[in-house]
Amino acid sequence: MKVRVYRSDARQRDAKLIAYDVPYTKGMRVLTALEFIQEHLDPTLSFRWNCGAGQCGSCAAEVNGKPVLTCKTEIREGMQDLSVFPLKVFPPVKDLVVDFAPAQKKLKDLRAHFTPAREKKPGEFYRLQEWQVQAAQEMRKCIDCFICYDVCHVLRDAPHLNFVGPRNLVKAAAQEFHPLNVVNRAPLVEQGGLSACNVTRCCTESCPQGIQITQNAIIPFKERVISSKDPFEKLLKKVLK
Ligand code: F3S
Ligand code: FES
Repeated sequence: MKVRVYRSDARQRDAKLIAYDVPYTKGMRVLTALEFIQEHLDPTLSFRWNCGAGQCGSCAAEVNGKPVLTCKTEIREGMQDLSVFPLKVFPPVKDLVVDFAPAQKKLKDLRAHFTPAREKKPGEFYRLQEWQVQAAQEMRKCIDCFICYDVCHVLRDAPHLNFVGPRNLVKAAAQEFHPLNVVNRAPLVEQGGLSACNVTRCCTESCPQGIQITQNAIIPFKERVISSKDPFEKLLKKVLK
């Protein structure tokens, strides 16, 4: 079979698609084809991978125009042409390797790396509800593959737009939904361009972990932004304090 792979350096000098002949074996994955090329045809081909089992998220690339995990994507028999590109919303580094730094910087702005938790009073007993555990755990299933980020049309159309992107909202939600969370992220996500998301759900449909990104991370944040501006809710919060 022919596997066409995008080759370039960071400056996109001499960027081109190079076709390689790769022997097909039943059940092989796109990552296996890339490994074959690197091992037998061109050792300079650069791509990332780590676990080979859909758990680390490092192998994501665009296969025939669709961002996927290459280690989980099976090459079907009779597929004559396969094209592999890097995730297009990120600055290229080399071949299929891209630079995630711009997305990581936006994540920092959401204070999603570490959240100071409310300290419990001595002897305080805290009962964790099952729904609270599930809400936080769902967000912690994210493997940082950035497929949702790459597929989001807002970022694809304007990668430099001020929008934190679905993956970062998932990370922020993982902290926000912790029952002992003390950070109010409503103003942070608002400054992070949350309103640019028009809830098309492409991110949710592409998530290899099945996280309900739109329903369970983005919409709750949108609701928090709206209620943080509601004068009645503001008053209620003051009274209940
Ligand atoms: Fe983008 Fe997902 Fe919103 S694809 S527009 S972040 S629903
Ligand atoms: Fe880890 Fe593909 S190599 S998810």
